[in-house]
Amino acid sequence: MKENILNYPTVDLNEAGDAVLIIDQTLLPKKLEMIELKGAKELWDAIYLLKVRGAPAIGVFAAYALYVLSLEIAKQASTAKEFYEEFKKQKEYLNSARPTAVNLSWALERMERICEKGLSGAILPGAAKGSGTSSSGSPDDVGMIRETLSLLKEEAVSIHREDTETCRKIGEYGLGLIKPGYGILTHCNAGQLATSKYGTATAPIYLAHEKGYDLKVYADETRPLLQGARLTASELSAAGLDVTLLCDNMSGSLMRSGAVNAVFVGCDRVAMNGDVANKIGTSMVATLAKYYGVPFYVCAPTSTLDPSTKDGSLIRIEQRPASEITEMWYSERMAPEGISVYNPAFDVTDHDLVTAIITERGIAYPPYEESLPEMLER
Ligand code: MRU
Repeated sequence: MKENILNYPTVDLNEAGDAVLIIDQTLLPKKLEMIELKGAKELWDAIYLLKVRGAPAIGVFAAYALYVLSLEIAKQASTAKEFYEEFKKQKEYLNSARPTAVNLSWALERMERICEKGLSGAILPGAAKGSGTSSSGSPDDVGMIRETLSLLKEEAVSIHREDTETCRKIGEYGLGLIKPGYGILTHCNAGQLATSKYGTATAPIYLAHEKGYDLKVYADETRPLLQGARLTASELSAAGLDVTLLCDNMSGSLMRSGAVNAVFVGCDRVAMNGDVANKIGTSMVATLAKYYGVPFYVCAPTSTLDPSTKDGSLIRIEQRPASEITEMWYSERMAPEGISVYNPAFDVTDHDLVTAIITERGIAYPPYEESLPEMLER
């Protein structure tokens, strides 16, 4: 792979505007391939199979995916009501692809509100416009659907653009927590490949690098899907950072050596008490960081804060296939046939292990029951 991965969009609409364009992250780092997706099953699969991954990128992807599916729905639907019913089905289908990252449902909800706004003349109780029942669309319905499609496209583009701005701001707040010469440990990939640009956990690192801070970044390889080795190590070295890769079970010895001044990680869902769900292994890193007195920072856009989740025990953790552990990365199976496998994709880090949560609206410190609602209100 010779091209600089950072010059390619993680997620975008294709040039024709009728398919979602992504880097297929399952092929990295060996191959940099952009793929275009438009069918419901292939869009769902892209999320489930981690061709696109990372909470903010999944949100941006889902918004574009629902828009692309709406183009097809519009071709089939005879009335605005029919369009709306099918839109809701496709929205629920996409939402079922992965359960833990709240950005997926957050982006889809935003799209649904826009759809309802565009179709309000036909779907609200007592709506006057639109036939609603005829087998072919009335001129009102056709116009409403056309207008709704354009609103949906605008909303998806806004979600995409806002994500870039959000990550940049997280970077600016996080920069204040870094000093020149720092050693920084990160887990999984919360970089550009997990967002539209800059990443969340990597945004302060990129900004510090731009300022010439001379950092040393340590990337956990992140078993079982190796997001750290395949993605973080690739993108940070493409940006010219000094990156060192380590296995997940080596971060304790690295922290004990004094090489780590701070840990920065991303996040898939923040509960209102400050418990955070992130890639499996994060809670182990946080526990070690507390023991060794290393600050543990979680970077999360406010779209990852979930007002409906009181604490981490309520976060649904995705369980993944056993084959990811027993054979996926090996030339031959490495575990006995029939062995039981524990393979949660995420874990919950208790709030008392989290030094601060860096959002695009500022830095939240404990007690999180007070600081997180304040971030949501800002
Ligand atoms: O399974 P993944 O690769 O989607 O998991 C990604 C993570 O856990 C990231 O740390 C998180 O989504 C934050 S990305 C800015």
